[in-house]
Amino acid sequence: MKTNIEMMRLRTVLLTLLLGVGMAISAHGSKEKKTGILLVAFGSSYDNAREAYSYFEKRVHEEFPDTEVRWAYTSNMVRSILKKRGFDMDTPAEALAHMCDDGFTRIAVQSLHVIPGDEYDYLKQVVNSFRQVPKGPEKIVLGKPLFFLHHDVEASVQALLKVIPEERKPNEAVVFMGHGTEHAANIYYPGVNYYFSQTDDLVIAGTVEGFPGLKEVKEELREASVKRIWLLPLMAVAGDHAQNDMAGPEADSWKSQLEAEGYEVHPVLKGLAGTQAVADVWISHLKETVHELEN
Ligand code: CO
Repeated sequence: MKTNIEMMRLRTVLLTLLLGVGMAISAHGSKEKKTGILLVAFGSSYDNAREAYSYFEKRVHEEFPDTEVRWAYTSNMVRSILKKRGFDMDTPAEALAHMCDDGFTRIAVQSLHVIPGDEYDYLKQVVNSFRQVPKGPEKIVLGKPLFFLHHDVEASVQALLKVIPEERKPNEAVVFMGHGTEHAANIYYPGVNYYFSQTDDLVIAGTVEGFPGLKEVKEELREASVKRIWLLPLMAVAGDHAQNDMAGPEADSWKSQLEAEGYEVHPVLKGLAGTQAVADVWISHLKETVHELEN
């Protein structure tokens, strides 16, 4: 015959077992779905440049009001500069690990890079490795950078043409300054030049570190015999490269070098992620990413 104390113990043990089974079911069987968006950019240490990211985030919230949005930067250099100022930004791997910890089961990772170059390759590798992580997300999808397939480049070029200031007259040139790279994806820059030429011969794409460079841009400008040039960054943010290499007061900036050739130069310091037209293209990529995630 059992005493009351023994009965109470038995009940406690049974209750604990039942609770344990219940929790196991909710953790494996009917696990709740939680979707999150991770925006991944190169990053910038310039506070005024990051306003373009803020604008883009606002657009993402408008499009996906019920989905949590987080950020990661692919540039370790930018992250370490920001860390010294007390601003701790995650790498893509850190952000994804935190999202797993916080119970996100489906993650849309959206690249805010312009071309599928080194930064995008790195991000793609991180995303692929999270597909192998035990107890990792159920599904994780990576969204395309600005330039990718033919129709993406076409849409992006049309958006870039909308970013040109209205004050620009048809006989004035527009130079978009991209980053440029040793990566095979550098081919997008001369490619984009070709797409521009289909609509407007006086719109030119060049790069700081790749091909075509300022030398080739100058040759095109000479053939066009223009007087005024509008200079715009072909970058998500108008950070270090745009503020110094493109529009800086130093003699080797594009602005100074073009002025030395006798042109009247008008730089526009606005990052593409902060413009309505180009943000629209990135948002359309994110919509495709989320759609793929949910199907
Ligand atoms: Co650079």
